[in-house]
Order: sequence, then structure tokens, then C-alpha cells
Amino acid sequence: MSVELKQQAVMVRERAYAPYSRFKVGAAIRAASGAIYVGCNVENAAYPEGTCAEAGAIAAMVAAGETRLVEVYVVAGSAQPVAPCGGCRQKLAEFGAGDVPVTMATTTGAEQGTTLAELLPGAFDAAAMEG
Ligand code: THU
Repeated sequence: MSVELKQQAVMVRERAYAPYSRFKVGAAIRAASGAIYVGCNVENAAYPEGTCAEAGAIAAMVAAGETRLVEVYVVAGSAQPVAPCGGCRQKLAEFGAGDVPVTMATTTGAEQGTTLAELLPGAFDAAAMEG
């Protein structure tokens, strides 16, 4: 895991808009080109309209013209390293191979490493729709 990826995730977390949960999350994704894309959670008074940090980072990556991610770092102010929600696991799996490393972290420095395949075993993917 690169130090830069961590720094970017920690930095973007500060910009999270989370007035309802007060739970700020930052995500940094390294894409195949080596570029890093970041996202933070953006909540809404209509609660279900809120978006996760991972979703923001993925949107930034795709908007920049990239569709393959090779490394993920997610950080939150939780007691234990933050676990991406189910929806974000599916979103990440759309753009990354099963062996893509995912680091889940706390703002106090605890880190837990996993992979996309461990986060989402048996993932539904495009291949599942082939005849
Ligand atoms: N959240 C994320 O942004 N990413 C995660 O991995 C876990 C949860 C956000 C969504 C919501 O704004 C807040 O954290 C509380 O669920």
C-alpha cells in the first residue's frame, strides 16, 4: 500500500459532508494508469440520497476516463477499520479484479488489509449474464 494513497484518503475524508451521521469517510483509489482518485461521503437530508466515499472515488475515476482500479484505501473515524458497505463492494468489484488489495483503516492508524474477492465472494459480474 502506498503512503500517497493513504495520505489522499485521509485528506479527502476531511471534506466529507456528513452532518447527519457525523461519520466521515475518505476513499482513495489507484487506477491502472497509476493516477489516484478520491471521494468522500456526501449525505443528504433525504437520507437514502447520500453517497459513500467509495462511490465518489469511483465516479471520479470513470469521469477521468479510467475503468480499472488496482488498489483501494478507505479510512474513517471508527474504532475498528471501516468496512465498505455491501453496495460499495459491488461497485468496487465492477472495476477491479478479485486480487485487488483493499486497506481498511481508522484515523488513529489501525489498518486491516483484504482483497475485493474476500470482501465480495461469489460476486455477480458481467460474465454471469453470458448465455
Ligand atoms: N460510508 C461510506 O462512505 N463508506 C463506507 O465504507 C461505510 C459507510 C458512509 C455512508 C454514510 O454517509 C456514513 O458513512 C454512515 O453510514
